[in-house]
Amino acid sequence: MPDSPRDPDSPRIAVFDAYGTLFDVHAAVARHAGAVGPDADRLSETWRAKQLEYSWVLGLMGRHAPFWDLTEQALDYALARYPGVDRALRAPLLDAYRDLDAYPEVPGTLRALRAAGWRTAILSNGDAGMLERAVASAGLADDLDAVLSVEAARTFKTAPAAYRLATERFGAAPGAVLFCSSNRWDVAGAAAFGFRPVWVNRKGVPEEYPDHPPDRVIGSLDALL
Ligand code: LAC
Repeated sequence: MPDSPRDPDSPRIAVFDAYGTLFDVHAAVARHAGAVGPDADRLSETWRAKQLEYSWVLGLMGRHAPFWDLTEQALDYALARYPGVDRALRAPLLDAYRDLDAYPEVPGTLRALRAAGWRTAILSNGDAGMLERAVASAGLADDLDAVLSVEAARTFKTAPAAYRLATERFGAAPGAVLFCSSNRWDVAGAAAFGFRPVWVNRKGVPEEYPDHPPDRVIGSLDALL
Protein backbone atom coordinates (compact mmCIF):
# COMPACT_ATOMS: atom_id res chain seq x y z
CA MET A 1 0.00 0.00 0.00
CA PRO A 2 1.51 3.40 -0.91
CA ASP A 3 1.93 5.97 1.85
CA SER A 4 1.86 3.30 4.52
CA PRO A 5 4.16 3.53 7.54
CA ARG A 6 5.67 0.21 6.39
CA ASP A 7 6.54 1.54 2.91
CA PRO A 8 10.16 2.79 2.99
CA ASP A 9 9.51 5.11 0.01
CA SER A 10 6.54 6.87 1.58
CA PRO A 11 6.94 10.29 3.15
CA ARG A 12 7.63 10.25 6.88
CA ILE A 13 5.87 13.49 7.78
CA ALA A 14 2.12 13.39 8.26
CA VAL A 15 0.34 16.74 8.63
CA PHE A 16 -3.32 16.88 9.58
CA ASP A 17 -6.03 19.48 9.25
CA ALA A 18 -7.78 19.89 12.60
CA TYR A 19 -11.45 20.78 12.32
CA GLY A 20 -13.44 18.10 10.55
CA THR A 21 -10.38 15.87 10.21
CA LEU A 22 -9.23 15.21 13.80
CA PHE A 23 -12.09 16.96 15.62
CA ASP A 24 -15.77 16.56 14.85
CA VAL A 25 -17.04 20.11 14.23
CA HIS A 26 -20.63 18.93 14.54
CA ALA A 27 -20.04 17.47 18.02
CA ALA A 28 -20.79 20.85 19.66
CA VAL A 29 -24.35 21.06 18.37
CA ALA A 30 -24.78 17.30 18.75
CA ARG A 31 -23.97 17.63 22.46
CA HIS A 32 -26.93 20.04 22.82
CA ALA A 33 -29.14 18.58 20.08
CA GLY A 34 -32.16 18.12 22.33
CA ALA A 35 -32.12 21.73 23.53
CA VAL A 36 -31.38 23.11 20.04
CA GLY A 37 -34.38 21.31 18.56
CA PRO A 38 -35.35 20.47 14.97
CA ASP A 39 -32.97 23.00 13.37
CA ALA A 40 -29.90 21.35 14.97
CA ASP A 41 -28.36 19.96 11.77
CA ARG A 42 -29.05 23.12 9.75
CA LEU A 43 -27.66 25.32 12.54
CA SER A 44 -24.47 23.26 12.68
CA GLU A 45 -24.00 23.26 8.90
CA THR A 46 -24.58 27.03 8.69
CA TRP A 47 -22.22 27.67 11.62
CA ARG A 48 -19.44 25.72 9.89
CA ALA A 49 -20.09 27.14 6.41
CA LYS A 50 -20.02 30.75 7.64
CA GLN A 51 -16.91 30.18 9.77
CA LEU A 52 -15.09 28.98 6.63
CA GLU A 53 -16.54 31.69 4.38
CA TYR A 54 -15.33 34.40 6.74
CA SER A 55 -11.81 32.96 6.71
CA TRP A 56 -11.66 32.85 2.91
CA VAL A 57 -13.08 36.37 2.51
CA LEU A 58 -10.59 37.80 5.02
CA GLY A 59 -7.76 35.89 3.35
CA LEU A 60 -8.63 37.35 -0.05
CA MET A 61 -8.74 40.83 1.50
CA GLY A 62 -5.25 40.26 2.85
CA ARG A 63 -6.62 40.55 6.39
CA HIS A 64 -6.51 38.19 9.33
CA ALA A 65 -8.47 37.66 12.53
CA PRO A 66 -8.36 34.92 15.15
CA PHE A 67 -10.35 31.90 13.95
CA TRP A 68 -12.11 31.89 17.31
CA ASP A 69 -13.60 35.34 16.53
CA LEU A 70 -14.85 33.99 13.19
CA THR A 71 -16.31 30.98 14.99
CA GLU A 72 -18.27 33.29 17.31
CA GLN A 73 -19.44 35.53 14.45
CA ALA A 74 -20.52 32.50 12.44
CA LEU A 75 -22.54 31.14 15.35
CA ASP A 76 -24.22 34.54 15.76
CA TYR A 77 -25.20 34.45 12.09
CA ALA A 78 -26.47 30.88 12.36
CA LEU A 79 -28.56 31.75 15.44
CA ALA A 80 -30.04 34.75 13.58
CA ARG A 81 -30.76 32.53 10.58
CA TYR A 82 -32.62 29.99 12.75
CA PRO A 83 -34.55 32.16 15.23
CA GLY A 84 -36.35 29.12 16.64
CA VAL A 85 -33.11 28.14 18.40
CA ASP A 86 -32.80 29.55 21.93
CA ARG A 87 -30.06 32.23 21.98
CA ALA A 88 -29.26 31.22 25.55
CA LEU A 89 -27.50 28.24 23.94
CA ARG A 90 -24.80 30.53 22.49
CA ALA A 91 -22.46 30.17 25.48
CA PRO A 92 -22.91 26.40 25.96
CA LEU A 93 -22.40 25.82 22.22
CA LEU A 94 -19.19 27.86 22.22
CA ASP A 95 -18.00 25.98 25.31
CA ALA A 96 -18.67 22.69 23.54
CA TYR A 97 -16.75 23.92 20.47
CA ARG A 98 -13.69 24.65 22.64
CA ASP A 99 -13.56 21.01 23.71
CA LEU A 100 -14.70 19.15 20.60
CA ASP A 101 -14.53 15.36 20.51
CA ALA A 102 -11.75 13.81 18.44
CA TYR A 103 -12.93 11.11 16.03
CA PRO A 104 -12.48 7.72 17.73
CA GLU A 105 -9.61 6.44 15.55
CA VAL A 106 -7.50 9.61 15.91
CA PRO A 107 -5.42 8.94 19.08
CA GLY A 108 -4.53 5.37 18.05
CA THR A 109 -3.63 6.41 14.50
CA LEU A 110 -1.35 9.25 15.60
CA ARG A 111 0.32 6.98 18.16
CA ALA A 112 0.88 4.19 15.61
CA LEU A 113 2.33 6.58 13.04
CA ARG A 114 4.81 7.95 15.56
CA ALA A 115 5.71 4.46 16.74
CA ALA A 116 6.50 3.66 13.09
CA GLY A 117 8.87 6.62 12.89
CA TRP A 118 6.62 9.26 11.39
CA ARG A 119 6.57 12.86 12.53
CA THR A 120 3.06 14.20 13.01
CA ALA A 121 1.61 17.69 13.09
CA ILE A 122 -1.55 19.71 12.90
CA LEU A 123 -1.76 22.57 10.40
CA SER A 124 -4.99 24.44 10.99
CA ASN A 125 -6.85 27.68 10.40
CA GLY A 126 -7.56 27.54 14.12
CA ASP A 127 -5.69 30.07 16.21
CA ALA A 128 -3.02 28.82 18.58
CA GLY A 129 -5.20 29.17 21.69
CA MET A 130 -8.09 27.18 20.20
CA LEU A 131 -5.78 24.46 18.98
CA GLU A 132 -3.93 24.13 22.25
CA ARG A 133 -7.17 23.66 24.12
CA ALA A 134 -8.66 21.23 21.60
CA VAL A 135 -5.48 19.13 21.53
CA ALA A 136 -5.30 19.04 25.33
CA SER A 137 -8.97 18.20 25.83
CA ALA A 138 -8.75 15.37 23.28
CA GLY A 139 -5.56 14.08 24.95
CA LEU A 140 -3.47 14.35 21.76
CA ALA A 141 -0.58 16.51 22.98
CA ASP A 142 1.89 13.61 23.32
CA ASP A 143 1.06 12.26 19.87
CA LEU A 144 2.02 15.37 17.89
CA ASP A 145 5.44 16.81 17.06
CA ALA A 146 3.97 20.21 16.18
CA VAL A 147 0.72 22.14 16.30
CA LEU A 148 0.89 24.82 13.61
CA SER A 149 -1.62 27.64 13.34
CA VAL A 150 -1.95 29.77 10.20
CA GLU A 151 -1.95 32.71 12.61
CA ALA A 152 1.84 32.69 12.23
CA ALA A 153 1.43 33.48 8.51
CA ARG A 154 -1.40 36.00 9.06
CA THR A 155 -3.52 34.26 6.44
CA PHE A 156 -5.77 31.22 6.06
CA LYS A 157 -5.68 28.05 4.02
CA THR A 158 -5.76 27.76 1.01
CA ALA A 159 -3.05 30.47 0.75
CA PRO A 160 0.32 28.84 -0.06
CA ALA A 161 1.89 30.80 2.83
CA ALA A 162 -0.32 28.84 5.22
CA TYR A 163 0.85 25.42 3.92
CA ARG A 164 4.45 26.67 3.88
CA LEU A 165 4.41 26.76 7.69
CA ALA A 166 4.62 22.95 7.65
CA THR A 167 7.50 22.68 5.16
CA GLU A 168 9.40 25.34 7.10
CA ARG A 169 8.78 23.63 10.43
CA PHE A 170 10.12 20.28 9.21
CA GLY A 171 12.70 21.59 6.72
CA ALA A 172 11.03 19.40 4.09
CA ALA A 173 9.99 19.77 0.47
CA PRO A 174 6.20 19.82 -0.09
CA GLY A 175 6.39 16.43 -1.85
CA ALA A 176 7.76 14.86 1.35
CA VAL A 177 4.65 15.76 3.33
CA LEU A 178 1.54 13.61 3.50
CA PHE A 179 -1.30 16.05 4.17
CA CYS A 180 -4.61 14.66 5.41
CA SER A 181 -7.85 16.61 5.44
CA SER A 182 -11.52 15.77 5.38
CA ASN A 183 -12.19 19.19 3.82
CA ARG A 184 -12.07 18.82 0.05
CA TRP A 185 -11.23 22.53 -0.42
CA ASP A 186 -8.20 22.03 1.86
CA VAL A 187 -7.11 18.95 -0.10
CA ALA A 188 -7.27 21.11 -3.26
CA GLY A 189 -5.08 23.77 -1.63
CA ALA A 190 -2.64 21.14 -0.40
CA ALA A 191 -2.44 19.57 -3.88
CA ALA A 192 -1.79 22.97 -5.45
CA PHE A 193 1.00 23.56 -2.92
CA GLY A 194 2.65 20.25 -3.82
CA PHE A 195 1.87 18.17 -0.72
CA ARG A 196 0.84 14.53 -1.15
CA PRO A 197 -2.81 15.03 -0.25
CA VAL A 198 -5.06 12.42 1.31
CA TRP A 199 -8.78 13.13 1.39
CA VAL A 200 -10.51 11.71 4.45
CA ASN A 201 -13.98 11.50 2.95
CA ARG A 202 -15.72 10.55 6.17
CA LYS A 203 -19.23 11.11 4.86
CA GLY A 204 -18.86 9.80 1.32
CA VAL A 205 -19.61 13.18 -0.25
CA PRO A 206 -19.13 13.71 -4.02
CA GLU A 207 -15.74 14.47 -5.55
CA GLU A 208 -15.05 18.10 -6.57
CA TYR A 209 -12.07 20.35 -7.49
CA PRO A 210 -11.16 18.03 -10.42
CA ASP A 211 -8.02 20.04 -11.25
CA HIS A 212 -6.60 19.50 -7.76
CA PRO A 213 -7.21 15.85 -6.87
CA PRO A 214 -6.04 13.89 -3.82
CA ASP A 215 -3.41 11.15 -4.17
CA ARG A 216 -5.62 8.93 -2.06
CA VAL A 217 -9.14 8.84 -0.65
CA ILE A 218 -9.82 7.11 2.66
CA GLY A 219 -12.91 6.85 4.87
CA SER A 220 -11.16 7.33 8.21
CA LEU A 221 -7.63 7.96 9.38
CA ASP A 222 -6.87 4.40 10.50
CA ALA A 223 -6.73 3.47 6.80
CA LEU A 224 -3.30 5.14 6.82
CA LEU A 225 -1.92 2.28 8.93
C1 LAC B 1 -8.85 23.74 9.96
C2 LAC B 1 -10.28 23.89 9.60
C3 LAC B 1 -10.65 25.07 8.89
O1 LAC B 1 -7.97 24.33 9.30
O2 LAC B 1 -10.81 22.74 9.09
O3 LAC B 1 -8.58 23.05 10.95
